[in-house]
Amino acid sequence: MPEAKLILRGLHKSFGDNDVLRGIDMEVQAGEMICLIGASGSGKSTLLRCINQLEPIDDGAVLLEGQDISEPGLDLGPVRRRIGIVFQSYNLFPHMSALENVLLAPRRVLQEAPAASRARVEALFARFGLGEHMEKFPDQLSGGQQQRVAVIRALAMRPEIMLFDEITAALDPELVGEVLSVLRQLREEGMTMILATHEMGFARELADRVCFMDGGVIVEEGRPEAIFTAPQMARTQAFLRSVLR
Ligand SMILES: Nc1ncnc2c1ncn2[C@@H]1O[C@H](COP(=O)(O)OP(=O)(O)OP(=O)(O)O)[C@@H](O)[C@H]1O
Ligand SMILES: [Mg+2]
Repeated sequence: MPEAKLILRGLHKSFGDNDVLRGIDMEVQAGEMICLIGASGSGKSTLLRCINQLEPIDDGAVLLEGQDISEPGLDLGPVRRRIGIVFQSYNLFPHMSALENVLLAPRRVLQEAPAASRARVEALFARFGLGEHMEKFPDQLSGGQQQRVAVIRALAMRPEIMLFDEITAALDPELVGEVLSVLRQLREEGMTMILATHEMGFARELADRVCFMDGGVIVEEGRPEAIFTAPQMARTQAFLRSVLR
């Protein structure tokens, strides 16, 4: 079996005396989609932020294709390009078109001719159904469309892994579907993804593996049908009872 794309080894993270991650171990294979579920405060966002080194970890290691990217002093630019992240708030610049928002980072960072970046980014807009909207400004787009632009902005850096933190949480219910369909498409294209979500239906439909977090540890993990129909741990059972009724 090839080495995992991403390996988390004994991750620990505290804020003051709040031990938020208390020993997280995980292996993610290329092309796998992992969904993190768990109550508010269980550590899902912190875990995502520790993976792409937005937060320094206190102990343990994050290995990307075998390279320890959590080593102190490492240049984090390449790491953040290889591991993209999208948050609940899409934070597009209001004074720039969708296209300009997406082009900003690749033009600054990637060694690529401007025309090449533009062609590649336009193709991304087309691929995700936003070809007609790329010249619009954020306030001319719906929340769902803006969030899709934010996903395209992350993809424009050609990441190998994508992290998504509750990216549908701020959207009106009727707009959630269009963002989830982007994730569905990325999964079909073989992107490696880790997603923190409260959308249990989506986790059940699309995850290769669901990890239930509680109190900074992964209490239980497995294929969605196993986790959702026959959870083994009392804490998982209680959580699912509270969210699925
Ligand atoms: N920058 C920070 N400084 C101090 N404490 C933090 C910080 N970020 C997170 N925490 C704390 O870490 C704990 C876990 O928070 P985290 O945001 O990871 O949970 P979560 O599982 O993503 O919750 P939610 O479902 O509400 O998004 C919480 O107790 C939170 O208050
Ligand atoms: Mg969170």
